[in-house]
Amino acid sequence: MKWLKNRRVFLALTLMIVIALSGCGKDDEPIGQNVNLNDGSGKKVLVVYFSRTGEQYGVGNIEKGNTAIVAEMIAEKTGADLFEIVPENDYPYTYSELTDVAKKEQKDNSRPKYTGAVPDLSQYSAVFVGAPVWWGDWPMICYTFFEENATALAGKTLIPFATHAGSGLSGFDKKLAGACPDSTIGTGLAIMGADAQKDRDKVGKNVAEWLAGFGY
Ligand SMILES: Cc1cc2nc3c(=O)[nH]c(=O)nc-3n(C[C@H](O)[C@H](O)[C@H](O)COP(=O)(O)O)c2cc1C
Repeated sequence: MKWLKNRRVFLALTLMIVIALSGCGKDDEPIGQNVNLNDGSGKKVLVVYFSRTGEQYGVGNIEKGNTAIVAEMIAEKTGADLFEIVPENDYPYTYSELTDVAKKEQKDNSRPKYTGAVPDLSQYSAVFVGAPVWWGDWPMICYTFFEENATALAGKTLIPFATHAGSGLSGFDKKLAGACPDSTIGTGLAIMGADAQKDRDKVGKNVAEWLAGFGY
């Protein structure tokens, strides 16, 4: 249907403009802090992430999502467990269709469901939480996770990381603090999604430098 195709092209173009504009100078003062998670007391850490395969901005069709790559690096360098937020209903494969669905979810403030059992969070002192920036925000499915688990996450350190195409951390830290008000927020990390696919050495260095702030 022509109108639908036009709408998708329009949304995809709008998103390119949003990304281009949001990259330059915004009041995105970080709020996170560094906490020593590796103090010899055997603190357990979890990495929770949402990521997507399929057609993606700037990198074509990918078999492992940009955020998944970063999440696995963090888990490897910290010895953390991993939990992937897997949507109950698959997202579209094509980028333009996905932008459409994501925009609607944001507009409707929806809480898409995810599958799988969340590990027992009481065993972890800190949780790294990562996702792609979608329309300048966490994908709505992440809010499903935050809100469903906010009580179990209270008193823990939550450390946000984002992959993006130019918008940076996009206030992930503040938004996470809003969704989980009784948690401490750690210093966030923003990685260019395309680098996760094309320049893993650089991303590995960035991740290592950031993790040093948490004692790793
Ligand atoms: C629906 C959608 C919205 C996006 N919105 C933004 C955005 O607002 N700012 C930005 O920098 N990148 C945006 N991007 C690009 C993604 O954040 C980037 O490609 C990310 O690395 C994808 O991670 P993933 O492979 O783990 O899903 C968007 C991508 C999609 C699919």
